[in-house]
Amino acid sequence: MILNPEEMSSSAIYHAMVSAIVPRPIAWVSTISSAGVANLAPFSFFSGVTANPPSVMFSPVNRPDGSSKDTVVNIRDNGQFVINVVPFALAEQMNLTSGDFPAETSEFQAAGLTPIASSKVEPPRVKESPIQMECELIKIVDIGEGPLAANLVVGKILLIRVDDQVTTDSRIDTAKLDSIGRLGGKKYCRTADQFELDRPQMR
Ligand SMILES: Cc1cc2nc3c(=O)[nH]c(=O)nc-3n(C[C@H](O)[C@H](O)[C@H](O)COP(=O)(O)O)c2cc1C
Repeated sequence: MILNPEEMSSSAIYHAMVSAIVPRPIAWVSTISSAGVANLAPFSFFSGVTANPPSVMFSPVNRPDGSSKDTVVNIRDNGQFVINVVPFALAEQMNLTSGDFPAETSEFQAAGLTPIASSKVEPPRVKESPIQMECELIKIVDIGEGPLAANLVVGKILLIRVDDQVTTDSRIDTAKLDSIGRLGGKKYCRTADQFELDRPQMR
């Protein structure tokens, strides 16, 4: 099978991409609106960028009507966000927060989650999440225009909080973390199935 994006709808190429680019980690992003409403939404077009400076990126796309998602509006307003890691135990709540709630409704409340004050940024963290990264905006890269165009958010990590329950010998233990990944359609995976490889000789 050959897929040529030039001959496909955006929706068809999206479905192919989300099944081919797997598993994807989930940035559960908390932000705050200019009216002070705490917002929370998951984004799986998400990755680390580099450790120098410690940075991350995620890609909120425009809604089908071309408008920006609340997360983007809030980050453009105050340049801050928190990325909360999603363990298997919080999968249902994470999914709930992806609902299209009006900007005045806090997804924290809708999903029964606890907003807790951050140290370096204004948006609150998700208390129930075992790892929270407080970030400030480096830049938003606009890719495309109109519906589904991306507002690629690149941010610097200012502080990482890790629950001691997911550490072993002062390091994050991915088996204890039990984070989830997104696959295509409704499918997710767990990170319980792990194996190790030694790196080849490095320069
Ligand atoms: C697991 C998961 C991953 C998602 N990944 C993305 C993504 O990478 N980009 C995006 O624009 N929307 C993504 N969504 C949809 C957003 O979470 C959804 O549009 C949400 O309502 C945006 O909220 P906001 O308007 O409060 O920012 C994802 C949804 C789920 C459940």
